[in-house]
Amino acid sequence: MALGGGTAAAEPAAPGPLLWSRPGRLGAPRVSGLHLQFGSDASREVVVSWHTTASVARPRVLLGTAHGGFGRTEQARTTTYRDAKSGTEVQVHHARIGGLQPDTDYVYAALHDGAAPELGTVRTAPRGRGAFTFTSFGDQGTPTLGRQTAGGWVNDNLGSPAAGDTTAGVERIAPLFHLVNGDLCYANLSGDRVRTWSDWFENNSRSARHRPWMPAAGNHENELGNGSIGYGAYQAYFSLPEAGADEQLRGLWYAFTAGSVRVISLNNDDVAYQDGGNSYVHGYSGGAQQRWLEAQLAAANADPQIDWIVVCMHQVVISTADKFNGADLGIRETWVPLFDKYGVDLVVCGHEHHYERSQPIRGQQPTDTRTPIPVATDTEVIDTSKGTVHMVIGGGGTSAPSNQLLYSPARCRVITGVGPVDSATGKRPPKYVIEDAPWSAFRDADHSYGFAAFEVDPGVRGGNTSIAVTYYAVTGPYGELLPVDRFRLTRPRGRRGHRV
Ligand SMILES: [Fe+2]
Ligand SMILES: [Fe+2]
Repeated sequence: MALGGGTAAAEPAAPGPLLWSRPGRLGAPRVSGLHLQFGSDASREVVVSWHTTASVARPRVLLGTAHGGFGRTEQARTTTYRDAKSGTEVQVHHARIGGLQPDTDYVYAALHDGAAPELGTVRTAPRGRGAFTFTSFGDQGTPTLGRQTAGGWVNDNLGSPAAGDTTAGVERIAPLFHLVNGDLCYANLSGDRVRTWSDWFENNSRSARHRPWMPAAGNHENELGNGSIGYGAYQAYFSLPEAGADEQLRGLWYAFTAGSVRVISLNNDDVAYQDGGNSYVHGYSGGAQQRWLEAQLAAANADPQIDWIVVCMHQVVISTADKFNGADLGIRETWVPLFDKYGVDLVVCGHEHHYERSQPIRGQQPTDTRTPIPVATDTEVIDTSKGTVHMVIGGGGTSAPSNQLLYSPARCRVITGVGPVDSATGKRPPKYVIEDAPWSAFRDADHSYGFAAFEVDPGVRGGNTSIAVTYYAVTGPYGELLPVDRFRLTRPRGRRGHRV
């Protein structure tokens, strides 16, 4: 594509005296880890982000269209965190770009003084009811070799080569956006956490610079010493839609609208019982996240422009894996009654490193584990106005898949609490109760890696709207795809108003 003629003229002069030292032109770090986020209205707003480990001058984004040139400049705002393990300060540059046209392709270039511009593209969401596709996986890691041992180079953050293949697979679908269901890079396990975050963005920038990767924080985003509750790195790398949270909790939950879909992203470490991060933060928000969630669900459910409510989160309500994590009663106690009350259609999650899905569920048995109640048995066409479908999509690329661990027949291991800290591990051991799994609809024991694609069809007035779902196993390099599960979610269009 050709650069427009007005690029230089459109750039404003440097503002005022700079408060940091201006690096030499030749010494400026490159634009690293270029990636996108949507604002709360995905038809109007995106954020372009990249990071450096040195101060840079005038971080900015040039924006335009393929045929019109880069005529608009937006200054980036820099946020920082200092990794408590290495002492390295990371600077993340976020350029917020609003006032965009819906359903429109843009080109952009991210740069700072002395660095070559890095190019990307982004498409905005349709406004109102329109067709688009999104994708989702969790639990990725990186395909890199980060540590040299006596036996050779190894990955030290639970990654594998598949963590590169899944990204290539997503690019074959080229969705409008990609939901990352937590456990992004497992930096909390690695010898060099900053390098691991950098590796994750390097691996995924080939996709995330063209379509927002919208994350939910998982237990492995909880890093000892980083931020007040451990998510300081995650909170710095991403600039997510504002949710009115305290500064310390910024970015841990948020929502955005794409077409007629309202996506709500949660951080389940707040309510899960399992001790899964570097520190035990159960209850950290003091109920703030739950209050926000209920207000969000009530508003989305009453919004005449919204047909679908999709929740992206990490730890799970359902799982039929043995000797892995299991389902967590804390989520069943807190989120599920709200999902029922406001008619959430779909939940995508990770944490379990395989693929499975539930029947539509609504209500809970009066058991100690609050076993979800399936409300339909058709596994191909599912009316989500009757119940919520949960999808575990945790085969994003780790070296520890759980598809070989599924109970046969299906059962569920539920974490119902934790014991006192074990001095040997420093962790609170989980307490388990095993239950039947009457809600189990489909499980993939054969493939360790993959992702799901969701094709939203807005339907026609007076009819149904639907989402065609395909779970693709990623079966080889370059994102080779094998569809292993297909089904259709459907509900009456324009008729949410779920009775509450
Ligand atoms: Fe994981
Ligand atoms: Fe996890």
